[in-house]
Amino acid sequence: MSDLEAQIAPMIALAAETREKAHAPYSGFRVGACLRSPNGRLFAGCNVENVAYPQGQCAEAGAIGALVAGGEREIAEVVIVAAGETLCTPCGGCRQRLAEFARPETPVHVCGPEGLRASFTLGELLPQAFAFESAKS
Ligand code: THU
Repeated sequence: MSDLEAQIAPMIALAAETREKAHAPYSGFRVGACLRSPNGRLFAGCNVENVAYPQGQCAEAGAIGALVAGGEREIAEVVIVAAGETLCTPCGGCRQRLAEFARPETPVHVCGPEGLRASFTLGELLPQAFAFESAKS
């Protein structure tokens, strides 16, 4: 296990535990996410699907809701856990949701059930993001 993986082990464990609670009867694809606020608090979420498919919610969105409801406003690190052969990077919408509370340099770690698979920065995943400054006329 790399130093990085050892360092984020509690985040991976919480994301994996929360992933088990996912409501994913339609896709069968369970996802868990864990966010760390700068003061070290951890917040988790899982995907929650709906029979009206577009109403389903990604794991990242649930975790962001938990972080904000917990009184935090900043995301310092992100961990996502899912199975499957390819990397489960956040969807486009969730990249934008994460950008609301994170920075371009914020690490986003993508994990499988076996552990860390790849690490990116949010800026790599969402270059040229639409930001607060972009909305000024
Ligand atoms: N999903 C997430 O929860 N997070 C991601 O990063 C990618 C996709 C969910 C949405 C849906 O419930 C299932 O995975 C299949 O797309």
